[in-house]
Amino acid sequence: MKKTVIALALSVAATMGVSAQKQEGLALTPPMGWNSWNKFHTDINEQLIKEIADAMVETGLRDAGYIYVNLDDAWHGQRDAQGFIHGDSVKFPSGMKALGDYLHSKGFKFGVYSDAGYQTCALYPGSRGHEFQDAYTYSQWGVDYLKYDWDRALNDAVGSYTLMRDMLYQTGRPIVFGICEWGENNTLDWAPGVGHLWRTGGDIGCWFDESPCHEKTILWVIENNNKAREYSGPDHWNDPDNLEVGNGMTVNQDRAHFSIWCMMASPLILGNDVRNMSQETLDIVKNAEAIAIDQDELGVQGLRYKVENGVQYWFKPLMNGDWAVCFFNTNKVPAKIDVDWTDFDFVDPLSKRSTGFKETTYSIRNVWTGKADGKTDRARSLVIPAEDVVMYRLVR
Ligand code: GLA
Repeated sequence: MKKTVIALALSVAATMGVSAQKQEGLALTPPMGWNSWNKFHTDINEQLIKEIADAMVETGLRDAGYIYVNLDDAWHGQRDAQGFIHGDSVKFPSGMKALGDYLHSKGFKFGVYSDAGYQTCALYPGSRGHEFQDAYTYSQWGVDYLKYDWDRALNDAVGSYTLMRDMLYQTGRPIVFGICEWGENNTLDWAPGVGHLWRTGGDIGCWFDESPCHEKTILWVIENNNKAREYSGPDHWNDPDNLEVGNGMTVNQDRAHFSIWCMMASPLILGNDVRNMSQETLDIVKNAEAIAIDQDELGVQGLRYKVENGVQYWFKPLMNGDWAVCFFNTNKVPAKIDVDWTDFDFVDPLSKRSTGFKETTYSIRNVWTGKADGKTDRARSLVIPAEDVVMYRLVR
């Protein structure tokens, strides 16, 4: 059987370029789920992943849309004599396919992680030289999502990622392809045709505005991801990295972080221990109105219209002529702003959609209070708490 696969791999390689392409239509809205890295790093095992999945069912997260359960680095065991990768048999005693079956039986999709190099970032086996074998193995395990990391020792990012894209395609199994190359090799020029999402920068940390290490702050990630706005859209998303909500920031900071991810149409991949969540954390990540803004089918990354006195003004066009608006106060003290909607009468250069405040009156939904909040036909003054947001859906 395995010899047949290897022969098949070689014949596939020989016919490459004929039918190889990205698997289309797998991420028409930004993927939602959970990933092990932010909270657990390499300390993962079968029991943990099952408990996470069970908790996501019990807390309603799965039904809120978080359907991918993604193992990050360190699930790996060794390659066998023929080069096939296996899960770590101590950490995952039932095997990777059994874990995939468990996740599928609970209504989830199954994600794994690998690296384009010989080793992963945490020094487990990478896929270099085993691309088809690995893609084939993942398909046999029932994998639905691959996060594919980068090794700076390689020099051909386009070739490395295109190769894995093509190998996934050849398996015939729909597998979302997440590029994790930190925006280092002119990523935006090639990633939209290769992956369903791509990291726009380095690793996020649970730091709002100052980081003591290499990990990026929430504010840094927002600046960086905002620069790539015009590249994102249905089936090809900018990925500012997984969420840090529930990992130790204040409730205000968590709410602001989540809100801006939604405004940027980012993948919403939780990175916390969903078995132990405060009510505040749950209320943030389960907010259906915020999620609907992220998942809106128009698929336009929000525009940061202006920044004034540390307050960021974000606008995101939505289906049916609606708009999402988010006023984000990055200051450590509350900010008072005056909002006269006609000041924001503009045409978004990317979507060509007009806010049309002069001729259109919208009804206002306050996303975080969940209440109707007047109309856009009159000006208002707002006090935005420190490091927090006021977020609206403007309904046409
Ligand atoms: C890199 C990635 C992270 C994570 C780790 C795992 O740093 O950018 O998201 O996957 O590797 O080792």
